[in-house]
Amino acid sequence: MPKTRTANGPRRFPSSRTALTRRSLLGGAAALAATIGPSRVARAAAPVPFGAAIQSNFFDSDPAYAQVFLDRCDLVLPMNELKFPMLRPTRESFEFGPADRLVDWARSNGKTSRGHTFVWHDGNPAWLERIRDPIEAEMVLREHIQRTAGHFRGRLESWDVVNEVIAHEPRESGGPLRDTWWLRTLGPRHIPIAFAEAARADPGARLVVNDYDLEFRGARYDARRRVMLDLVRQLQDGGLRVDAVGIQGHLYSHFEIDPEAMARFGRDLKTLGVGLLATEIDVIDFQVPGGPEEIDRAAEKVVGDFLDGLFAGQRPEAVITWGLTDRYSWVGDVMPRTDGQPVRPLPLDADLVPKRWYELLRRRLAQA
Ligand code: XIL
Repeated sequence: MPKTRTANGPRRFPSSRTALTRRSLLGGAAALAATIGPSRVARAAAPVPFGAAIQSNFFDSDPAYAQVFLDRCDLVLPMNELKFPMLRPTRESFEFGPADRLVDWARSNGKTSRGHTFVWHDGNPAWLERIRDPIEAEMVLREHIQRTAGHFRGRLESWDVVNEVIAHEPRESGGPLRDTWWLRTLGPRHIPIAFAEAARADPGARLVVNDYDLEFRGARYDARRRVMLDLVRQLQDGGLRVDAVGIQGHLYSHFEIDPEAMARFGRDLKTLGVGLLATEIDVIDFQVPGGPEEIDRAAEKVVGDFLDGLFAGQRPEAVITWGLTDRYSWVGDVMPRTDGQPVRPLPLDADLVPKRWYELLRRRLAQA
């Protein structure tokens, strides 16, 4: 479904800034080119925005943590505050406060923000998963998206409409979609319902399907990339708008990235009129032997290969890390190192000092 973009159409990540700059400078650019040469004009493209996910509890307890997002990011998004567990502890409640604070703080400091996420399998509250009736589940899903996307309408560049809906191992007999409460209760149609409702509730937000394990080499990852493309095509065939695919980018530094497959994936999406972004980069280093230096060298390699693949298919709309400093990360809780050393998943170390891979990433974004 090729999309024509209008002034009222979905916002693109580089924001209207890029488009505006190009359009409004067009007349002047010709004159400039005559005086300073074409290379200076060509270099004026805005860098790909860099973003990171922030957590409201540390935002409140650690002022240096909050400040570093302002110093380093173009985009700041709530990590957990828009998910079911924090937003909907009871069926009646919509606890918008914590996400409102983060989003408004980011925006008032000149940053953009995005929404994560309406549909996920993890951590659903008990009241939700007690529902067995598909009609009731559909009502809850539609109301959830109407109220939530409606509340933030105009303040978020994009939404991860569905998160991790692809089967962990799609080649197994269970089918291409993950076995979740949403799938069991509503069937696969929970995905098009979510996209339709999101498009209605915030027509200006870019709608993203977000998933993991889309970057590595191997048959399982090929299968996951194929399922993602099928999913996008089927949503489009149903007349629904899918603006971009989010590659989470939880990067195991003992795995091999497949930059060629990523490039093909990015090109295939481009052919479908669908953008691409990296939404949750961090490095999972529990299998890498050695000290901080070896761990960071492996991280630099995996991030570099990932960025090569990401940029080869199409220009990404944004590149986002899942947190910003090793001070706080889910990786140490879920995948700790067996040698007792702290994990080093994020671009800034625990003292907020940038690692080499942060500099590499920023250089890459600036060259795009
Ligand atoms: C994680 C957060 O980082 C944790 O703080 C929280 O306890 C659980 O969720 N994939 C996703 C993210 O899409 O939402 C997850 O975030 C990490 C894996």
